[in-house]
Amino acid sequence: MKVLRIHPKDTISIRHQMLRSGKPIDSCIYNGDDDEQTFHLGAFVDTKLVSVASFYFEKHPILLPPYQYRLRGMATLSEHQRSGLSSELLKMAFPIIKQNLASLLWCNARLTAVGFYEKVGFERVGESFNISDIGEHILMTKKIEID
Ligand SMILES: CC(C)(COP(=O)(O)OP(=O)(O)OC[C@H]1O[C@@H](n2cnc3c(N)ncnc32)[C@H](O)[C@@H]1OP(=O)(O)O)[C@@H](O)C(=O)NCCC(=O)NCCS
Repeated sequence: MKVLRIHPKDTISIRHQMLRSGKPIDSCIYNGDDDEQTFHLGAFVDTKLVSVASFYFEKHPILLPPYQYRLRGMATLSEHQRSGLSSELLKMAFPIIKQNLASLLWCNARLTAVGFYEKVGFERVGESFNISDIGEHILMTKKIEID
């Protein structure tokens, strides 16, 4: 397994299969995908891209630290889940976020994925809320220690 930075367009197929199945492919293009401070990571098994995650320099309105990253589009193909791939993507992301002087990573986590986020060190913030067409989510955060 190898983790590499990938082009935004390379995230679309896995986003579509795992996060927006049956929805228009355009819904898999997210605001900020091409921004300079955005980065996208992919895990490859035998040269096949099987897991993706994207990181946006974006402050959440209710969270205090001035510099924050947002995690979106975290997904691993079904047959490769629970093999540690998403965890590896995050391990590679943390130092990059830190290099960009952001001290917090946040995401709107699907309730079905909360257990995963807790395993990798995120904490829940507040109550769950509904995102139309997708379902119940909860805000989760992970502190990134800046030396
Ligand atoms: C959630 C998801 C991204 C996790 O990816 P993954 O590559 O399977 O995660 P990992 O293998 O790195 O899991 C790390 C740990 O979390 C656990 N875990 C993974 N998914 C979990 C879940 N849904 N609930 C509870 N624990 C979970 C793993 O068992 C592993 O535990 P361990 O360290 O004790 O072995 C993946 O299940 C997925 O793509 N789901 C569908 C899309 C989705 O819902 N994405 C999140 C949107 S907010």
